[in-house]
Amino acid sequence: STHGWQAPGPNDSRGPCPGLNTLANHGFLPRNGKNISIPMILKAGHEGYNMEADILTIAAKVGLLTSPGDQPTTLSLNDLKAHGVIEHDASLSRQDIALGDNVRFNETIFFTLANSNPGSDVYNITSAGQVQHARLADSLKNNPNVTNTDLTSIIRGAESAFYLSVMGDAIQGVAPKKFVQIFFREERLPIQEGWKKSTVPITLATVGALVDRVSAAATPWEPTGKNCAGILLLD
Ligand code: HEM
Ligand code: MG
Repeated sequence: STHGWQAPGPNDSRGPCPGLNTLANHGFLPRNGKNISIPMILKAGHEGYNMEADILTIAAKVGLLTSPGDQPTTLSLNDLKAHGVIEHDASLSRQDIALGDNVRFNETIFFTLANSNPGSDVYNITSAGQVQHARLADSLKNNPNVTNTDLTSIIRGAESAFYLSVMGDAIQGVAPKKFVQIFFREERLPIQEGWKKSTVPITLATVGALVDRVSAAATPWEPTGKNCAGILLLD
């Protein structure tokens, strides 16, 4: 079908965002991952995940800063790897740029999330907060160049809220492990496995509420080195 999953080919652009890579793998975004405009992201997020423009617009606008200057209105998914714009250290599934590949899925990094909330078949707010804390502790220990600021903290909270929301219940912040693992590992919507697109619109308000709860579960947290609130404020 038009929105069946297909693995990317060698010339297709993919980046550090499993959410956008998945939309491209299903043809909600161009399968080549290139020449993507903000309206294309908004439409794809709505069709693929029932995400509203209010939450996607800000990320999409900041994301455009990463594309070459001769492309004023579009980006390619690989452009998003630009460190310090949205891409940050202590990711859930990619290495820190100072330690390796900040673009491609990494099973060793993903181990922390994959094995969180033992004894349960879901991830939730508490486990997501613990994972954020553990991933940051790993970067603080192993990456002398780590960046950890108010801005990266907000972005990381939003990304935890994103996987809980798109793969699970956007109000409760609970998602089946099986779905989340397929989303990260295969960048695929787990439709055969029983996943359904959220019936609740995923909005700035629903994501914001989960970010507050995940951040509270990721404590203690404090910025490292020079703090910078950046330009992205989710409230
Ligand atoms: C990272 C989900 C939209 C740019 C992530 C991560 C998740 C995610 C779960 C964390 C990956 C990790 O920590 O390993 C989603 C979902 C979206 C979406 C479900 C819905 C469409 C966007 C948009 C942009 C964007 C609109 C900008 C155009 C990024 C970037 C990263 C990222 C640059 C890398 C951050 C890092 O881990 O270093 N996304 N995202 N995402 N996302 Fe998205
Ligand atoms: Mg990263």
